[in-house]
Amino acid sequence: MDSAFLLEWVTLLLRWAHLITGIAWIGASFYFVWLDNSLSPPTDPELVSKGVGGELWAVHGGGFYNPQKYLLAPPRLPAHLHWFKWEAYSTWLTGIGLLTALYYLQAATYMVDPAVAGLSPAQAVGIGVGALVLGWVVYDQLCRLLMGRSQLLFAALYFAFLALAAWSLTHLLSGRAAFVHLGAMIATAMSANVYFWIIPGQRIIVQAMRRGEVPEAIHGLRAKQRSVHNNYLTLPVLFCMISNHYAFTYTHPQAWAVLCGILLSGALIRHFFNLRHKGIVAWQYPSAGVALLLLVAIATAPTARQAGRGPAPRVADIEPIIRARCVACHAASPTLVPSAPAGVLLDTPERIAAQAERIHQQAVVLKAMPMGNLTGITAEERARLAAWHDAGARP
Ligand code: HEC
Repeated sequence: MDSAFLLEWVTLLLRWAHLITGIAWIGASFYFVWLDNSLSPPTDPELVSKGVGGELWAVHGGGFYNPQKYLLAPPRLPAHLHWFKWEAYSTWLTGIGLLTALYYLQAATYMVDPAVAGLSPAQAVGIGVGALVLGWVVYDQLCRLLMGRSQLLFAALYFAFLALAAWSLTHLLSGRAAFVHLGAMIATAMSANVYFWIIPGQRIIVQAMRRGEVPEAIHGLRAKQRSVHNNYLTLPVLFCMISNHYAFTYTHPQAWAVLCGILLSGALIRHFFNLRHKGIVAWQYPSAGVALLLLVAIATAPTARQAGRGPAPRVADIEPIIRARCVACHAASPTLVPSAPAGVLLDTPERIAAQAERIHQQAVVLKAMPMGNLTGITAEERARLAAWHDAGARP
């Protein structure tokens, strides 16, 4: 079987699995945050005497549910205790697999942008992997340093670090790779939280209880600190993961600031929901989040183009541009990639005319193409493509 086709299948399966495991992880996590914030003190004295601090009644799928949360722990641990951990681990594993199949195995196409930095594919991969490791080390040290201190201070410092990371990555890698790596960096820290702190902390607590001892509070506090962070980081990470569909975000000259604005708005909106579960409705947070998104939208809006002079171009006038800048990838037998990406073929005047709208969208409006501008299209050439489109994309 053709290796390019095989790789397509590998990415299809990984992406599918990544979505499914991600939904399972984030879904369970959203559910528990909602549950925790929605509990009410039990009215039944028997529950109170058992040590239940909060309970909830819910109906779902035709069944009635009555989860109860113990203030400390139940007097006797049940024989079977469910642990939520594989959702997080498998999301990370499929994510790394997808990152490898898409970006690391095709680094020349997806990670390098000669206009940003003249890196070799190996250097770009090194920077990508390095960012994931560094991101965890810095985050973990910040958590240790600020354990038990103001979490607002933590948020400010971590956000400053992420802004610096966004700035650095967008000045080293292609915009698209920079955004997805920032997301992978945060998501790696979230998964590592589960693996290195949350689950081990819970394990120590359970073991102490099985021995009949009172567990030290610090293990619970640490797990709580990390899980609160994971909760606030969910929406920002999810934006990074879908950002590759929105080239106007990562091709902006100040793409790092665009990214920071969107990340912050995600955390603010999440804060609103966390408070709302507790019965506090604080509109200032989502309002600030939406205002930020609006600012980003204004900053990324395409600027009006100067009307070109001279006779309106026809397809024969722009064909040389397409041949020089696009056909290395978008042809029946491309030279830069194994097969025509997204099935888009631009190797004959008829095919160019048939794709007029998409060419305009990708190469003029979004400037997403040529991918990583590997073929070095110029601003004048983009203006020619725009003039052809605006004059009706005549054959
Ligand atoms: C280095 C290889 C490369 C070059 C050169 C290149 N492209 Fe692409 N193009 C890609 C890849 C890879 C994709 C798939 C993007 C994705 O998966 O999101 C793509 C996708 C597209 C799409 C489909 C986008 C969509 O989501 O519908 C269009 C249209 C397109 N390119 C047009 C162009 C035009 C016009 C040029 C020249 C100005 C060009 N490309 C140059 C690699 C390239």
